[in-house]
Amino acid sequence: MQTTELVRFKKLGKQITVLTAWDAISSSIVEEAGADVVLVGDSLGMVVLGHATTLPVTLDQMLHHTQAVFRGFSKPRSKQPLVVCDLPFLSYQCGEDKAVEAAGTLLKNSSASAVKLEGAEPETLLVIKRLIRMGIPVMGHLGLTPQSVHQLGYKSQARDKDSQEKIFKDSKMLQESGCFAIVLEHIPGEIASSLKKHLDIPVIGIGAGSDCDGQVRVTADILGLSTTQPPFAKPFLAGRELCIDALKEWIKSTNLDQENPTTKTSESKPDC
Ligand code: KIV
Repeated sequence: MQTTELVRFKKLGKQITVLTAWDAISSSIVEEAGADVVLVGDSLGMVVLGHATTLPVTLDQMLHHTQAVFRGFSKPRSKQPLVVCDLPFLSYQCGEDKAVEAAGTLLKNSSASAVKLEGAEPETLLVIKRLIRMGIPVMGHLGLTPQSVHQLGYKSQARDKDSQEKIFKDSKMLQESGCFAIVLEHIPGEIASSLKKHLDIPVIGIGAGSDCDGQVRVTADILGLSTTQPPFAKPFLAGRELCIDALKEWIKSTNLDQENPTTKTSESKPDC
């Protein structure tokens, strides 16, 4: 799977499916389920590391988790999903050189094929162009951009005319800068739908309605594992309850084993 394949999917009208993974067990499940793209999102800071925001996530942590994601795949390389890795906060905001080094470190040491970064400010566009010139494919991310939580909150974006005009302009700029796809998070469905028509590159939505070229979800939300569920991510499994019930079952069974031991120490044979 290559980044160019996603543009072909858009032309064919084939929905692109993107799921996050953060370790070997989640990536093996997501690969087996057949997602086109695995995103090692910096949401792992909240989902896996227990932070309140994505801001504390470091480049080392992203690399560590992306490497684990690759170890979880079992299909031959040509059949594996495309892996996109988030550039964490402060790894690309401090200039082009630092961004090339951060993205290069992820691709060099993990076999990820592309990076994702947030926003379309003039400095960010320069970074994107430089990364692409260096051979590093970039996925954009607009709307609710969690690395700007202290400015935007976790609220729905592009609600008024000015911010809708801005998201149109920004997504055009991301396309012109060379992004191969754009994630649109938590914006009105009509805006995502018209952006999909306006752009040649795929629009991947999360909380942006169903009329996108593809959808991305945080896997823990789909499996119902998260303690707090975003309003736009419908769980497809009561994962938390099922896990808790299974573990309770196991705890009960070990207590029962103790009450009714099947093998007495005196009867057991030595191992060798
Ligand atoms: O970090 C992440 O998981 C993401 C998705 C929510 C798009 O950026």
